[in-house]
Amino acid sequence: MSKQVNGFSKLDKEGKIKWLIANYFNNDHAFERTLKRYWNSDAQLQQLHDEFIENTISNYYLPFAIAPNFLINGELYAVPMAIEESSVVAAASKAAKFWLERGGFKAEVISTTKIGHVHFLYEGTHQALHDFFTNAHYSLLQATSGITESMRKRGGGIKSIALIDKTKDLDNYFQIAMKFETKDAMGANFINSCLEKVAETLLELAGTGLEGNLQVVMSILSNYVPECIVRAEVSCAIEDLGNINGIDAKVFAHKFKQAVKIAEIEPYRAVTHNKGIMNGIDAVVLATGNDFRAVEAGVHAYASKNGRYSSLTHAEVTNNEFKFWIEVPLALGTVGGLTKLHPMVKLALQMLQNPNAEDLMKITAVAGLAQNFAALKSLTTTGIQQGHMKMHLMNILNQLGASFDEKNTIAKKFENQTVSHSAVTQELENLRSN
Ligand code: MEV
Repeated sequence: MSKQVNGFSKLDKEGKIKWLIANYFNNDHAFERTLKRYWNSDAQLQQLHDEFIENTISNYYLPFAIAPNFLINGELYAVPMAIEESSVVAAASKAAKFWLERGGFKAEVISTTKIGHVHFLYEGTHQALHDFFTNAHYSLLQATSGITESMRKRGGGIKSIALIDKTKDLDNYFQIAMKFETKDAMGANFINSCLEKVAETLLELAGTGLEGNLQVVMSILSNYVPECIVRAEVSCAIEDLGNINGIDAKVFAHKFKQAVKIAEIEPYRAVTHNKGIMNGIDAVVLATGNDFRAVEAGVHAYASKNGRYSSLTHAEVTNNEFKFWIEVPLALGTVGGLTKLHPMVKLALQMLQNPNAEDLMKITAVAGLAQNFAALKSLTTTGIQQGHMKMHLMNILNQLGASFDEKNTIAKKFENQTVSHSAVTQELENLRSN
């Protein structure tokens, strides 16, 4: 049977599932039962999810968890996190508690500008294009006034428009680079609509007022947002760090700083270091219905801004003070997108006291910093596996098909013992043979 299909999206949900099991599961209906187990019994809620994307056949669950005790600028937050990795929420909660007892996190938004481009090719004299743009730029902005009206009322809109000559890098390539303030919206639709209107108007005006050939290639926002930056920080007297996993505060502070310095200069380490930061950031971004792919792309580009991939966090140990901070680009929204649509996103935002975009930037950056602190604290003292495997214990037991009672008994056994797959398997075998 050919697996090619036409008009798949036109089939209803049952039809899509039928087609799938016939073509990819040898008509094994176990597959269908699994898919349907994940349907929501509330038909209206299920339909809402069905309509988020095309060809929905079921739901894909991720745990939704809370990391409490985050003191940020004097405000206590319980931070929602959607993530599958076993140790992330435990690590975030532990770091939050640690810093709660030491004054909490401080966070500030440094800038909120977003950028987009009309990418075009122009064959003609550069002076003619320059003169044309000088005359046309007001009309280009004017053309977007219908789109920007409500954003302007909220204090946002287009901040600037500029012609950029890129012909040194690519023949005939120019940009109209525009900067935007999108207030509490992530702003992708707003920015792209403005850019497409500018591109359309550019072509119209060039048709009559510009000598030479102008061709628009595309109009799109950039997910590189080095002017949409948030900074979060923790600091305390070195002695207030206390004894960390059996290590003296001063020794720990210096070792911790070295771990950060290594991530600053060694890309192999920086990628893993930043991955740990993204454990915290992505979990909050997902829970609050934001675009984690956009955030990921922008963050890693920012980590390379000086030409070498580097750490997003930094540490200083001076005059008996320990200071640890992150600076990260986060284009987040608390209105639009899924924010009012997805019930769990709505709930997550309510739990965060309905933050504006700047507040959410701060909370998210703090989650990243906390995660990195927790990871480096383990890495530089006990090693990562002790805590990681402890949290992974339930996954191992579930894989082995342990019962509720078996899980409880074995969890107790491993409270003070290093978890490994083989040790847990052995314990379960021992338990079952008794
Ligand atoms: C694991 O998900 C994240 C860590 O590897 C981060 C790090 O190494 O800093 C523990």
